[in-house]
Amino acid sequence: MHHALNQHEGVSDPLYYCDNAEAVKEIMKSHDAKLAISGHIHITDIAEEDGLYEVSCPATCSYPCAYTVCELSGSEFTVEVIWYDNETVRDVAKQEFIDAGKDVAQAEGEPSDRNAVLNIGAIMISPAITEEKLVIAHRGASGYLPEHTLEAYALAYGMGADYIEPDLVLTKDGVFICLHDIHLESTTNVEEVFPDRAREDGRWYAADFTLSEIKQLKVHERTNTDSTAVFAGRFPQNNSDFEVPTFAEILELIQGLNKATGRNVGIYPEIKSPTWHAAEGLPMEEKLLDLLAQYGYEGPNARIYVQSSENHSLRMMRDDLGTKLPLVQLVDTGNNSDTGENYSSMVTQEGLKEIATFADGVGPYKMYIEANPELVQWAHDDGLQVHTWTMRADSLPEKYSDFTEELNQFYFVYGVDGLFTDFTDRAVAFLQSAN
Ligand code: G3P
Ligand code: CA
Repeated sequence: MHHALNQHEGVSDPLYYCDNAEAVKEIMKSHDAKLAISGHIHITDIAEEDGLYEVSCPATCSYPCAYTVCELSGSEFTVEVIWYDNETVRDVAKQEFIDAGKDVAQAEGEPSDRNAVLNIGAIMISPAITEEKLVIAHRGASGYLPEHTLEAYALAYGMGADYIEPDLVLTKDGVFICLHDIHLESTTNVEEVFPDRAREDGRWYAADFTLSEIKQLKVHERTNTDSTAVFAGRFPQNNSDFEVPTFAEILELIQGLNKATGRNVGIYPEIKSPTWHAAEGLPMEEKLLDLLAQYGYEGPNARIYVQSSENHSLRMMRDDLGTKLPLVQLVDTGNNSDTGENYSSMVTQEGLKEIATFADGVGPYKMYIEANPELVQWAHDDGLQVHTWTMRADSLPEKYSDFTEELNQFYFVYGVDGLFTDFTDRAVAFLQSAN
């Protein structure tokens, strides 16, 4: 039993103040962290237990002690010292790992500075996946719960997503809601609740309903026009009571969970059909940036990517409205039906260079990459992140024998930086096993 960390009594982060290795282990387990812990002056062994790696020493530890935290990342360890007012402890731990040919990184902060402790804490409760490869929860954990519901977003968060994606449209009274289509009937019971409110084309448009009206609807699994489920094996129809969330509600959900868990999960909103919305008297761009700023998303380091398939909309946000938020140009197939923009020209070398003048990333439909894997390198050469879409375990292209083969192909053969998936848990597990 060691008590050095208890010297910080009165500091408000009890999570980080454990007085023995077992307690730290429990914290790590409860946060699903794949890290190694504990060690004192004479580190003699590295052992695995329940997926955790412990650097152990047989020596009787005399005060002051230190906890050495080691992150397992493939064959690499990162050694950091939580509590290092004893330089011998720190130096011995460090030397052990240097001798073993491992990379060593030292915690920031001055000796006895609790920032060092907090740095380690932040690592401990991060998802056990590399930051380099992102898992973007497509419409939430939509493989398991109806898309774009708070329940689906929360599940994706719990599954370890790096970013969670809401698609956004506007209500008649100008509120951003989370919905993939500008129409309501494919994912809600609008035709039952408001049978007389379809337009002449037989469709119910979200922009014709106030938020109060939309909150009367129930969300269900996506259906075809004949009411059959698009994905037959997913959440059952007529057996649920999910609401259409506002964008503010998901921001509050994610920020609340981030505070409660210490993680920093991001948000990846897509504004849907901004040209169409503007023609309806509902311009989106400035309203979106204002709302994001209200929730603290400002500047290039905000934990967000704002995506659009409409080039001019992104340019407006960057050039006219002056946002510095990370932006991603989506590249769909064919031409945009509202703007006439041609997509395939965007994934040429010239097109990518153009995108790099106003965006931080590109989101090509996955078949563009399969047709021309070189475009990933072209994008990287221009400083663009590449986030492709959409990976579905229950809609696997014939060319892949199983889902992990498709994930491996995109993450590690084509080398994309992130991908949108309906199955966050599967992508997280895949990256963990690959580490
Ligand atoms: O936004 C990228 C990804 O979500 C795929 O597009 O049609 O599902 O919004 P979509
Ligand atoms: Ca989307």
